[in-house]
Amino acid sequence: MKQTAPKRYRVIQWGTGNAGRKAIGGIVRHPELELVGVHAHSPKKIGRDAAELGELREPTGIRATDDVEALLALDADCVSYMAQGETRIRETVDDLCRILASGKNVVNTAIVSLVYPPFSSPKLRERLDEACRAGGTTLFTSGFDPGWSGDVIPLSLASVCERVDSIRVSELMDYSTYEDPGFTGVYFGFGRPLDFDAPLLRPGMLKGGWGGMVVMLADALGVSLDEIREVHERLPAPESFDTAMGRIEKGTCAGVRFEVQGIVDGKPMFVAAHCNRLRDDIGPDWDRLSPGKTSGYKIEVKGSPSLVCELEPAGEDGDHNTAGITGTAMRVVNAIPVVCEAEPGVKSILDLPLFTARVARGR
Ligand SMILES: NC(=O)c1ccc[n+]([C@@H]2O[C@H](COP(=O)([O-])OP(=O)(O)OC[C@H]3O[C@@H](n4cnc5c(N)ncnc54)[C@H](OP(=O)(O)O)[C@@H]3O)[C@@H](O)[C@H]2O)c1
Repeated sequence: MKQTAPKRYRVIQWGTGNAGRKAIGGIVRHPELELVGVHAHSPKKIGRDAAELGELREPTGIRATDDVEALLALDADCVSYMAQGETRIRETVDDLCRILASGKNVVNTAIVSLVYPPFSSPKLRERLDEACRAGGTTLFTSGFDPGWSGDVIPLSLASVCERVDSIRVSELMDYSTYEDPGFTGVYFGFGRPLDFDAPLLRPGMLKGGWGGMVVMLADALGVSLDEIREVHERLPAPESFDTAMGRIEKGTCAGVRFEVQGIVDGKPMFVAAHCNRLRDDIGPDWDRLSPGKTSGYKIEVKGSPSLVCELEPAGEDGDHNTAGITGTAMRVVNAIPVVCEAEPGVKSILDLPLFTARVARGR
């Protein structure tokens, strides 16, 4: 059962990839969190101190393990789950159910349709709800996008409106520095022929990923959607070039643009959009931030009043993709205290109180 309000929440980090690595530092530095376990998958990570995996200077004394039983037996309040979810959905749901039923709350980045649980499949929700009931626990899912970009920011902007005609949340990011060729590269189809069967662009996949964001905005504003539509477009590389996504040969995919549109009266009223280029000159007609700004997010609320908010995230190395990964991890790590105190169940941002980063005094 859920423990009563501990001063510091004991956390197991599950997954030490791009997001998981950032989460380790975020947990160790968070004044209300204590790292008590780390799950790693690859044999070369097992037995290594979390500090090495999270690129921290001081050892933590916590060694990575793939022993699930041992991790579940730990006295912990929450699991921060950041193992790869999209390519192993069934295993991820099994993991989440097992952890929740064991009495540990979960913050999760791995199954993005869960950013708004009422949108995800009833069968999936039922299984997760059952596990939450069994363990008296709470599950919360978020990330940078889908997640943070499309929840509190547009909702906060719209909170000054007397009338809202539309809300559009756009990720306008150059992915050339994103070191994720194995998943994002393949899923988006970067560096592949323009007719490559990119998993993300199969019918229903965009809706599965970003539909939750769209439906959450509609529900929050009290609007019923008639339908959700998906549109996408790919553009070729004008010449061959190298990126952190791998080598992009001339004529292969170097830009992906998509929209998930929540339709009301025949028109898109709530839109989650992406323009992801691998070079700035790809898609000159595609949306971008104002001149002088490079990569980031644009949130447009049209109504009375209308508002436009542009965000340029930058990591410690100055890179927007580093910021996106850090932000994905910290969006859920910073939620741990409120998630541990929430009523049991599968929750969305609309169910939780406002939360933010905590700064340790003296740091
Ligand atoms: N909403 C958003 O904005 C957003 C942004 C980024 C990521 N995400 C999601 O967050 C999740 C993590 O992303 P990431 O970028 O950190 O991915 P990543 O760098 O590819 O890392 C994947 C992690 O999954 C682990 N893993 C792989 N196969 C596994 C298996 N069979 N069993 C257990 N663990 C396994 C890996 O373990 P080892 O390293 O030990 O091999 C690694 O720690 C993904 O589902 C991704 O879609 C969401």
